[in-house]
Formats: sequence, structure tokens, C-alpha cells
Amino acid sequence: MPDMTDSTAPGLRLAGLTKVLGGRTIVDDLSLSIAPGELVSLLGPSGCGKTTTLRMIAGFLAPESGSVEVAGRDVTPLGPERRPSAMVFQNYALWPHMTVAKNVAYPLRVARRPRREIAERVAEVLELVGLSHHAESRPARISGGEQQRASLARALVQRPQLLLLDEPLSNLDAKLRVRVREEIRDIQQRLGITTVLVTHDQDEAMAVSDRVAVMNHGRIEQVSTPGELYRAPATGFVAGFVGASNRIATLDLGDGADGVEYVVRPEDIAFAADGIPARVTRVLPHGHFAEVAVSVRGHELRAYLSGSAPAVGDEVRIRIERALRYVDGRLDGVHGAAVEEVAA
Ligand SMILES: Nc1ncnc2c1ncn2[C@@H]1O[C@H](COP(=O)(O)OP(=O)(O)OP(=O)(O)O)[C@@H](O)[C@H]1O
Ligand SMILES: [Mg+2]
Repeated sequence: MPDMTDSTAPGLRLAGLTKVLGGRTIVDDLSLSIAPGELVSLLGPSGCGKTTTLRMIAGFLAPESGSVEVAGRDVTPLGPERRPSAMVFQNYALWPHMTVAKNVAYPLRVARRPRREIAERVAEVLELVGLSHHAESRPARISGGEQQRASLARALVQRPQLLLLDEPLSNLDAKLRVRVREEIRDIQQRLGITTVLVTHDQDEAMAVSDRVAVMNHGRIEQVSTPGELYRAPATGFVAGFVGASNRIATLDLGDGADGVEYVVRPEDIAFAADGIPARVTRVLPHGHFAEVAVSVRGHELRAYLSGSAPAVGDEVRIRIERALRYVDGRLDGVHGAAVEEVAA
């Protein structure tokens, strides 16, 4: 791949990408800029258009309108093999009859690289993903996590400027998923490669990303660091999708506002002697904390409480220490202590 990098340009820039499939707008005027070396996740519910967006970035799908720029170069008219990007698919897509080394070598053989160069690059990348000892194994003989790493190696051997990962961990069990995502993040940072990760798993997105783009119905609702996304979700949708939350629609706040909603994180509810009376309806112990449901004036709220857990039926008093206020679905303010009126 020729290196035509413009070091001042974003690693990836999507401008006004739109895709219509089956008469429906699946990706809707989507714009996003990613810095060189940054890992950004596309996070959203099933069917929101994540894979469609990634396929347009990779060149497998042509947009109705909009453009894709990689490192300052407009690649919109180019097919996937001519783009400086490489994709890792959810199902790994390894050839079963080829060894791991042959699978990894495949893109370089297609590109007709010299045999010696292929051998060197394959060895180097297998070392990078920790698979040197499985170079001669067939995919069926290695574990799911190892297959995933082989698939990553096959992408990286192309030395892409842009790495695209579509739900790369969804076939792995929960424990392995956590380990492999850390490995992927580690390799991505060591190589400093601009990366787009598609996932519907918020933990995964929050754990490995520099920034997370939350998608809904073909649009990006918010692009932020994981911390910001959790602390100040820009829309009611993001608040509900990222992290656990209580949503409280208020009817009478004195301001007569319609379409007002409060979102309260479970850890922002505390016991307080002078708080609002509440009754404990459910207790789920988690070891170091308990998940407690309380009924407050007709609202059921979920709280995370550390210390000694109450029992079902206990009459307690609680205080809401922080609440996010949404007007017509958009963040309107963050309330600190004394937001008793939320549960009025
Ligand atoms: N070729 C097609 N023709 C018609 N509709 C399609 C086509 N491909 C995808 N869609 C629709 O586009 C929507 C978005 O699909 P996409 O695969 O991008 O979603 P996703 O966000 O990746 O979801 P998931 O998390 O389930 O993978 C879905 O409703 C899907 O049914
Ligand atoms: Mg998908």
C-alpha cells in the first residue's frame, strides 16, 4: 500500500455518509473525524447501522452520498482492495484448509509480494499477536481467542493505515472477551494505528476506546470519551444505553414543562436520615455492594449501596445526589445535591 499520509489530516474523516437499503435510510448523513492513532468505537443497538457504516469505510458498500477520507486522502471511489484499510470480521473468515501462517500470508500473496518478504512479515505479525507457536496449525485446531488473533494478524500484516473491527469479540466467552479486548487495545496502541471498532457491548466500548460514538437509527447521537459519555450523556437515548440508570418522568415540577425527564444513576442514590421516605422492594447482593430497589412515591428506583444491605420491606430514607435533566430528549442540566423534587 503506498503511503500517502498527510500527517496533519485526521486518521479518518467521514463526511455526510448516507446509505439507503431496501428503501430505508440506514445511515443518515453521518459525519465523524478520528485523529491519527485514535481508537473510536461505534456503539449502538442491533440494526442501528454500525456494520453498514463500517462497510462503507472499508469500501464494500458505496454510499448514496458523502465521503470517506483516510489520512487526508479521499478513498470514496476506491474498492476495498485499493484502500489503506484492513477489516477483521466477526466470524474471523479464516480458510479452514490453510495453516495459520498461510491464512495470514494470504493478503500479501494476493498482492504478489516477494516470497521472502511475505515470510518475514508473517513471522513478525504472528510474534506481535503471540501466535508464533501456532504458525503451522489449522484454524480448527486453535481456540476461539487464537482464531481471533490470527484474523487480527491477517489484517495487520497488510500494514493498514486504518484498522476496522466488526464485533471482533462476540464469538468469545465473557472471560476471554475481556482478555482479548485488552490484547487488541495493547497492540493498537503499540502500533499507533487509527482504529474503528464496532460493538453493541458498552463495557467493551468503554474499556478500550479513546472515544465512543453512540449510534441510533443511522445517526451519531454523541461522540465523547468514555468518562464524559457516562457523566453527561447528551441525549436520553445515550443515558439509557450507556450504564444503568433510573428514568423518572416528572409531571409537576412547577415549570409546567412537558417532555422533561430525569435520569439518575444507581450510585447517585444514598441513604440519608433527612431524605425522602422509601420502601425497599428488592435486594440483590453483589458482594462488595448491593443492588437495592426502592419504591418512592410510586417510582421504583434502583440504587447501588455499599455497607450493610437493608432487607426487603424496610422503611428507609434516601437522597438523590445527582440527576441529569433532559428536555425533549436533550441534556438540559446536571443537578447536584437536594434534588428531592425529582421524585415529587
Ligand atoms: N442489503 C440490505 N438490504 C436491506 N436492508 C438491509 C441490508 N443490509 C442491512 N440492512 C438493514 O439495515 C439495518 C442496519 O443494519 P446493520 O447491519 O448496519 O446494523 P448493525 O448496527 O451492525 O446491527 P448488529 O448489531 O445487529 O450487527 C438493519 O435494519 C438491517 O436489516
Ligand atoms: Mg453489525
